[in-house]
Amino acid sequence: MPVWVVSRYADARAALADPRLRKDAVGLRAALTAKLAEAGRPTELSGLFNPHMLNSDPPDHSRLRRLLARDFTARRVAELRPRVAAITTELVDALPTGEPVDLIDGLAFPLPITVICELLGVPVANREQFRAWSTDLVAGSPERTMASSGAMAGYFVDLIGRKRADPGDDLLSALTLANSDGDRLSGEELLGTAFLLLVAGHETTVNLIGNGAHALLRDPHRWRRLHDDPALLPGAIEELLRFDSPVRTSTPRFTSEPVDIGSTVIPANDLVLVALGSANRDADRFERPDEVDLHRPQGGHLAFGHGIHYCLGAPLARLEAEVALGLLTERFPLTSLAVAEGELRRQPSAIMNGFRALPVVLA
Ligand code: HEM
Repeated sequence: MPVWVVSRYADARAALADPRLRKDAVGLRAALTAKLAEAGRPTELSGLFNPHMLNSDPPDHSRLRRLLARDFTARRVAELRPRVAAITTELVDALPTGEPVDLIDGLAFPLPITVICELLGVPVANREQFRAWSTDLVAGSPERTMASSGAMAGYFVDLIGRKRADPGDDLLSALTLANSDGDRLSGEELLGTAFLLLVAGHETTVNLIGNGAHALLRDPHRWRRLHDDPALLPGAIEELLRFDSPVRTSTPRFTSEPVDIGSTVIPANDLVLVALGSANRDADRFERPDEVDLHRPQGGHLAFGHGIHYCLGAPLARLEAEVALGLLTERFPLTSLAVAEGELRRQPSAIMNGFRALPVVLA
């Protein structure tokens, strides 16, 4: 499918904040289906393209984001630390030591999915099912994407019905009430938001923990440095977000009018992806961009996006990564990768950037 890719840091940052690069669900669906048809591809779009904050422009965006903003502030998220630590400890306790273990399967996947399921009020017992659906949504073939989208929508419609009848103390119940209270959230938006939170809430964080552990383990001294000096952790997480960004490109935007970026004019009704991972390695912005430097002055990376769609879950993602990588480096200072670099495989995806598996030996 033909898309424009914005790859330099300054252009990327400007594009993310440019209101002429639009996101509203109706326009986006129209632009995507036109381009898919042009490319001779199936044009059906999954439930991820139902309206939600990431597929909206103001004023809808502001309304949809406000409904959840309170629940994801740094302060609210800090209150989750003991629970995140308990889940992490339980998962890490179950990992074998001294023999190869897949860090994605054992920790990077189950931690964020468990946390987001608990927040949303989705039974954790269904997490493997959600993993399969969610992987199809971001990286499946067109047929699998649509089948999983339909199955997940059916699941949520049923769960939303139960929350409506018997609301609990969870985010999905709160959104269900905002839907039935009046016009704060339409039924379509409720479903879109459930999809968004579940997918955004875990695919990405799996990659931060996986890519982060990988980048640290490529130089065993680096991993040991965090064992010896855990105060480096918060800065290290920022550097890992920059160095091997969990989200390769932004989600799509479309041009409502011709838009000039750098020396290029992008015509109206075209699709644009902002290459976050590329921008984060731009030598005009970051010195020695291809090196991991745990002491690099922080800030400025675009791994969580920029502007009004800046990641709502950034404090939660940072907390989960800090707790996970903190516990691993504390307990297992001599950990190593269990396979040669060339044997590691990344997920094939235009948007997500992460490993299918990360075999390590914990020691
Ligand atoms: C938006 C990255 C974790 C929820 C975004 C965007 C990026 C991003 C790049 C903006 C996309 C764009 O402008 O096209 C990440 C990364 C994560 C992560 C790298 C982990 C390392 C989370 C988590 C949640 C979450 C844990 C959970 C609740 C959202 C939501 C939006 C968003 C709701 C849309 C915000 C809006 O449109 O106003 N994220 N995310 N993300 N993220 Fe995350």
